[in-house]
This record gives sequence, structure tokens and C-alpha cells, in this order.
Amino acid sequence: MNRKICKAVFPAAGLGTRFLPATKAQPKEMLPLVDKPIIQYGVEEALAAGCNQIIMVTGRGKSAIEDHFDVSYELEKILEEKKKTELLRVVRQISDMIHVAYVRQKEALGLGHAVLTARELVGDEPFAVLLADDVIDAEIPVLKQMIEVFEETQCSVLATQIVEPAAISAYGVLDVKPADGHHGGRLYEVLNMVEKPAVEEAPSNLAIIGRYILTPAIFDVLSQTQVGKGGELQLTDGLRALLKQEKMYAYVYEGRRHDTGDKLGFLKATIEFALKRDDLGSPFKEYLRALKLD
Ligand code: UTP
Repeated sequence: MNRKICKAVFPAAGLGTRFLPATKAQPKEMLPLVDKPIIQYGVEEALAAGCNQIIMVTGRGKSAIEDHFDVSYELEKILEEKKKTELLRVVRQISDMIHVAYVRQKEALGLGHAVLTARELVGDEPFAVLLADDVIDAEIPVLKQMIEVFEETQCSVLATQIVEPAAISAYGVLDVKPADGHHGGRLYEVLNMVEKPAVEEAPSNLAIIGRYILTPAIFDVLSQTQVGKGGELQLTDGLRALLKQEKMYAYVYEGRRHDTGDKLGFLKATIEFALKRDDLGSPFKEYLRALKLD
């Protein structure tokens, strides 16, 4: 049976402590990269990859996300009256984008727990998970690249990226072997994975990045997984258990990733995205040049 990926889950209930104090009263997913909230980049990627149902796992203090994807009658009326048609189009485009379902994770008990919270809304079908912090600039949306692999293998697929040894301890790291097939050396079969290993214990230089395609078997596995590092239910622990039941692949995606949940990563992404904009690129470049940094 060839199963399709229609549902995309966005875990967005984390506390965003790396971005305090900005995230004290607003979700980090709503921080703007130039003029668009981080999470909208992820939603646009999921839609471009063919997902038509978006599921957001939110928590306390995250209502701005719901408002963002909802209709704003007052704002639309004012923009209409003031004949600001282009802005009206931009605002309408967001709420017209798609139907979004929300489920609340009452406590931030970890990414694995957030995924498990989406169980009822996902049901018994394979689905995508996108961590909105990982904004990936790619010619072909990364989720689309991964869905192609899923359609061929019908197995869970993890996005992976080669990471320098100095940075590897910040990630879930994969032990892999090259997979057969025609993927230009980008596809691996996953043998094992370790969450945030010391550099000398890392099984490879392949880090897990915030895009996953998972089979629904992950739910049973997560519901039986013990709480791990930091008192949280870790997705990596669930994936390791799933690996004992099913084959799983890792795909070295094509694209440029920005970790926008980190302050430096956010600044770099802001600069790169602004420089690419038709309306802002030239004056912004001129401004940066004039800074005469040493
Ligand atoms: P992060 O590791 O980035 O954690 O979570 P965080 O809490 O959001 O941010 P920091 O590290 O404190 O700055 C990865 C993803 O998992 C979600 C987050 O919202 C983020 O998209 N998450 C994490 C949940 O939805 N629930 C949780 O309990 C934990």
C-alpha cells in the first residue's frame, strides 16, 4: 500500500529559553525573520510539499500563533477602508492558507511528548514533523525532498546535515550505512542514534535536523518510552525504539539551514533573508557595506 503524507505537525510548545527575554511573553515561533514570523516559513514549506492539514502543538502563552493564522476582521476592514490592497492581500493570504488544528501540550515535557500529544489528530497514518526554528532555505522545499524518499521507501525519514565536530554535541547524531538506490549518496539507512553525544562518542558527523517523516508506529513507541535526559520525553529515545521495529532512513537534504531558536543563528538568518529580498536587498547591502567592519 502506498501511503501519502497529508498531515504536518508543528511542535511549538517549548519554552524558548535560549531567546529570553524576547520569549517571556511571546512565542519564539512568532519572532519575525524580516517581516514574516518564523513559523510561517515552516507552514509554507509544508504546503509546498503537498501537506494539506497542519497540526500545531501549542501551550500556555502561544495564542499569538493561533491569532496569526486566523482571520483578523478588524485589520482587514481597516486595510480595505484605507485601500491598502497589497497589505490586505498579504494578510488574507495567511488566513486563507489552510485550516490549522491546534492541540495543547499542558506542560513542556519534551519534544517526544509534544509529538505524542498530536496522536489523536494524526490518527493511523504517516505524517511529517517540522520544528519551526529550523528555517531551511532550499530550491526544492526540504519536506518535499523527504516525501519523495518516503514515497519510495514507505519508511520513516529523518533530515540530516553534516556538522563540524566542534558543534556535534548539540545534536542527535546518527550511526548509518549508505542506502541502495539513486539518491546521489544522500540517503542512508539508520542503524542507531545518540542524543547530544560527547565529540569522541559521536558515531558520525550526521546530525538530526528539525524535519521528520514518521510512521504512526511512533505513537505506541513513545507512549512506552521512559522519560530521558532533562526529565523530558525525548523524540530521539522514541526513534531509537522504533528502529528496533522498522527500517528508517536519513536523508542529507539540499538546502541552507538556519537555527533561528538561537540568537546568533537568528541574526545570521535575518541578514541573509533581508539581502535576498527584492525590496530591501540593495539598500540593506549598501548599509552593511557602510558599516566598515574590521
Ligand atoms: P527546543 O529544543 O528548541 O526547545 O525544542 P525550546 O524549549 O523550544 O527552546 P529552548 O531550547 O528552551 O530555547 C525543539 C522543538 O520542540 C518543541 C519546541 O517548541 C521546538 O519547536 N517542544 C519542545 C515542544 O513542543 N514541547 C516541549 O515540551 C519541548
